[in-house]
Amino acid sequence: MEQKTIAVLTSGGDAPGMNAAVRAVVRTAIANDMRVLGVRRGYDGLIHGDMIPMNLRSVSDIIQNGGTALFTARSPAFMTEEGQKQAVDTCKKFDISGVVVIGGDGSFRGAKALCEKGIPCVAIPGTIDNDIACTEYTIGFDTAMNTAVEMVDRLRDTTESHNRCSVVEVMGRRCGDIALWAGVAGAADIILVPERPLSWADAANRLAANKLRGQLTSIVMIAEGAGKAEDFCEYVRKYTDVEIKATVLGYIQRGGNPSAFDRVLAAKMGQRAVELLADEANMRGTDRAGSRAAENNDLRENFGYAVGIRENRIISVPLAEAVSTRDCFDDKLYDLNSVMAKF
Ligand code: ADP
Ligand code: F6P
Repeated sequence: MEQKTIAVLTSGGDAPGMNAAVRAVVRTAIANDMRVLGVRRGYDGLIHGDMIPMNLRSVSDIIQNGGTALFTARSPAFMTEEGQKQAVDTCKKFDISGVVVIGGDGSFRGAKALCEKGIPCVAIPGTIDNDIACTEYTIGFDTAMNTAVEMVDRLRDTTESHNRCSVVEVMGRRCGDIALWAGVAGAADIILVPERPLSWADAANRLAANKLRGQLTSIVMIAEGAGKAEDFCEYVRKYTDVEIKATVLGYIQRGGNPSAFDRVLAAKMGQRAVELLADEANMRGTDRAGSRAAENNDLRENFGYAVGIRENRIISVPLAEAVSTRDCFDDKLYDLNSVMAKF
C-alpha cells in the first residue's frame, strides 16, 4: 500500500507540552508506516510550504522543553479565503493526506476551515487557557497553573512581611481556569473570574472587612478576562484604606518545562490523533463502519476531529462540536474556595 504523508503544526499561543505532543505524533505516525512533515510557524508555514521531513531523531530530546520546536504563529493570512486556498494547495503539492493541528480554540477553527476544504484534520488542544469545549484539560494548563501557584507562594512571602494585599493577574483569555485552580492551590482569599462575576465593590469590601478583623494580608487572583490587576488596585485604593500591590504574571506562565501530567496527556492525545488519521486514510473510499474514526457515527465527507480527555479517557469528537462554547466552569471548586477563604 502507498505510504501516506501527514503534517503536524503548532499554532496560536505556545504551551508547555506542545513538543511532547509533536513527538508523540511523529513517533506514532512512523510506527504506522506514515511519513511526517513538520510545518513551521503554524498556518503560515502551511500557506508557504515551510516544512521539514521528520524522523524518529527529529523529536529526540524535546519532550522536556517548553515552547514549541516547530515554532508557532498567529496567521492573519489563514483567516482569509485566499490563505486557506493556498494552504490546501500546499497540502496537495506535498501529497499530505491529513494534518494534525496542536493549538487553542482559534487554531481549532482553522482546522475546521481546512477540513471543510477537503483536507482531513485532527486537532489536539494545546493551550494554557483550558478553554476548549471538548476536553476537561488542555495540554499546558497543568504546567501554567503550577507556575502560577509557585509565583503566588513567592508573593505571599513578601506580601505578608509587609502586611499588605496582593492582586495577581493571570492569563486565560475569556477563561478563568488558571485563576481558579491557582487561586485554590495558592489559598487566595478572592478569585475574580469572568464565569462568576463579582463586583469590584464587593471584592474591595471583603478586603476592607478582612483588615478590620485583623487579617492584614489577602491574596486576590484575577483572570485577565475579569479585568486588570492594576485597575482593581486603583479601585481598592480609592474606596478603602487597604494597601495593595499588583503583579501581572504575563508570559512567565506560558514558558517552562512541561509537568509530567502535560507530557503524558500530550503523548496520549498525539497517539490518538494519528490513529484517527490512519483510520481515515485506510477507510477512504471504503466503508468506514467500525473504525475508530467512526466512533461518533459521524460519516461526513469532511473529516475533522478533535481529541480530548474526559473522565480520564481520551475521546474524539467532530471539530464542529469542539469549537462550540465551553460550558464547564467548575462552580463547585469556586464555591469550595469561598468556604476555605472564610468570607
Ligand atoms: P489559539 O489557537 O491559541 O486560540 P488564535 O486564536 O490566535 O490562537 O488562533 C491561531 C490561528 O488560527 C489564527 O492566527 C488563525 O490563523 C487561525 N484561526 C483562528 N480563527 C480562525 C477562523 N475562524 N478561521 C480560520 N482560521 C482561524
Ligand atoms: O492563548 C494563550 C494566551 O497566552 C492567552 O492566555 C493570552 O490572552 C494570549 O495568549 C496572549 O497572546 P499573545 O502571545 O499574542 O500576546
